[in-house]
Amino acid sequence: MKHYHPHTPGSQPEYLSPAYRSSVRRAPSQPLIVLPHTLSELSGPVFGHAGILPTDNDLTAQHVGQPLGERILVHGRVVDDAGRPIPGALLEVWQANAAGRYKHKLDQHDAPLDPNFSGAGRLLTRSDGSFEFQTIKPGAYPWGNHFNAWRPAHIHFSLFGAGLLSRLVTQMYFPGDPLHALDPIFNSIDDRAVRERLISSFDIERTQPAYALAYRFDIVLRGRHETPFETL
Ligand SMILES: [Fe+2]
Repeated sequence: MKHYHPHTPGSQPEYLSPAYRSSVRRAPSQPLIVLPHTLSELSGPVFGHAGILPTDNDLTAQHVGQPLGERILVHGRVVDDAGRPIPGALLEVWQANAAGRYKHKLDQHDAPLDPNFSGAGRLLTRSDGSFEFQTIKPGAYPWGNHFNAWRPAHIHFSLFGAGLLSRLVTQMYFPGDPLHALDPIFNSIDDRAVRERLISSFDIERTQPAYALAYRFDIVLRGRHETPFETL
């Protein structure tokens, strides 16, 4: 396992975050073992670009009908610590539907599935590091961590590309959600300013009139303004 922000203690979630109960069981209780890198790891990941369809970045267009919910456009840029763009990175997203239910056999939340929404998409960042995808705003869902525990609305992000030895995983939240203050996962990042980097901003300029609202979420891979990533 790798800690992606070793120079700023407290800026990333700890493996052990007792309020987030499942971290108690999965946090290592022994010192980590560092494995030597092999040539394939040092030369970077290889993944196929060919399988990605142009429509993979539209989660509202994967079925015959349109999904229920509030249509949104999410966009942003992926950059390094100097603000240089990260082009050609594979960005994968997954999320619950508007009712707060994942299309997954382990999700037994008593909320309806949407036959027109699978909740997964992917794309490659453009030459300027930018990306965008269309989806519906996910609903909050209960998760059983403690009594009356609800996850704030969020979209999961995975980023993988040249120069990354393993994929980076994080979650994007929405501004003004009253559940932020109550969520142990969000609050497992001690520094308020750092965890608030995970909250997207409402973007009226990119809103499509009479069609979809827009949110901006920029991702910084390294440095003082690094986006918090989950330690895998
Ligand atoms: Fe989730």
